[in-house]
Amino acid sequence: MLWIMRFSGFFSAAMAMVVLSPSLQSFQMPPTGSENRFSFRKAAAFRNADECGSNQRGVSGEPSVCDPSLVHVAITLDVEYLRGSIAAVHSILQHSSCPESIFFHFLVSETNLESLVQSTFPQLKFKVYYFDPKIVRNLISTSVRQALEQPLNYARNYLADLLEGCVRRVIYLDSDLVVVDDISKLWTTSLGSRTIGAPEYCHANFTTYFTAGFWSDKRFSATFARRKPCYFNTGVMVIDLVKWRKARYTKRIERWMEIQKSDRIYELGSLPPFLLVFAGHVAPIEHRWNQHGLGGDNVRGSCRDLHPGPVSLLHWSGSGKPWLRLDSKRPCPLDALWAPYDLYGHSP
Ligand SMILES: *[C@@H]1O[C@H](CO)[C@@H](O)[C@H](O)[C@H]1NC(C)=O
Repeated sequence: MLWIMRFSGFFSAAMAMVVLSPSLQSFQMPPTGSENRFSFRKAAAFRNADECGSNQRGVSGEPSVCDPSLVHVAITLDVEYLRGSIAAVHSILQHSSCPESIFFHFLVSETNLESLVQSTFPQLKFKVYYFDPKIVRNLISTSVRQALEQPLNYARNYLADLLEGCVRRVIYLDSDLVVVDDISKLWTTSLGSRTIGAPEYCHANFTTYFTAGFWSDKRFSATFARRKPCYFNTGVMVIDLVKWRKARYTKRIERWMEIQKSDRIYELGSLPPFLLVFAGHVAPIEHRWNQHGLGGDNVRGSCRDLHPGPVSLLHWSGSGKPWLRLDSKRPCPLDALWAPYDLYGHSP
């Protein structure tokens, strides 16, 4: 009995080591397991058009993340949404006239996925950032719904801290979308005096994103007093990192998360703190850059149609994901628009 206890003690110590040290995480997987588990085809090569110009290189010959001509895109990579993230990157490259001028910032908190990105997109300019789930675990309240939430959902709060100081602007994208237009158009959108830009939805009933307790307590609801807050989706955002860092918005978001732990001011997870800090102060971006809701609602098997108007980005927000529906042979009609960017599986 004693040796079992010793053994389990050793085991949890070893597990703690793995959790604490990202460099040890590869020990969790058998040497060949990771490649077999996620098999992606190599994407076709992509090249800059003549008018793009050449990118600066650092002293080592490596592309420099500080090159001011780069377009910066941040996406999370996690096991569950990996297929979506890879398709999103693929779609961005395919529709960009200067694909070699895009720098990808991948946020991860579990497995070592760097080699997978490298082998799928051999020329890609990218960096992988380890986002420590411990940063938000203490800030996420333990309601049933939020217990199901990935800490990586909150990584977008920390982009200003994680990315290099020379990176002044970033486009944050969810993993369940594809871009079907040149991302440089989104990149050059003016934010005016604002810190973040996103499509706004002012017809949505903003009241419903917060609890009755929030609205009845002036200490909290006064935050919206001199604003006209509108709902926006945090899955597509252009962020001015210089302004973000200066105003320390990460701390402001964390402060609302702390209030949520004691006062329960909202039901959803990572979205409401963003609404609390930014709603009403958002630079409105054209709705074509977030044709959202294609995942459908909670009714199983429900399919959504596109909103009227032009489309530059298709977003499968909601409960269904196109890769799961395609695999189950019961796709929604619009899932066919996602399929061409899928690189999962071996070459046909
Ligand atoms: C918005 O939602 C709240 C709470 O559910 C409700 O009381 C209110 O009537 C709604 N407002 C509109 C304009 O629909």
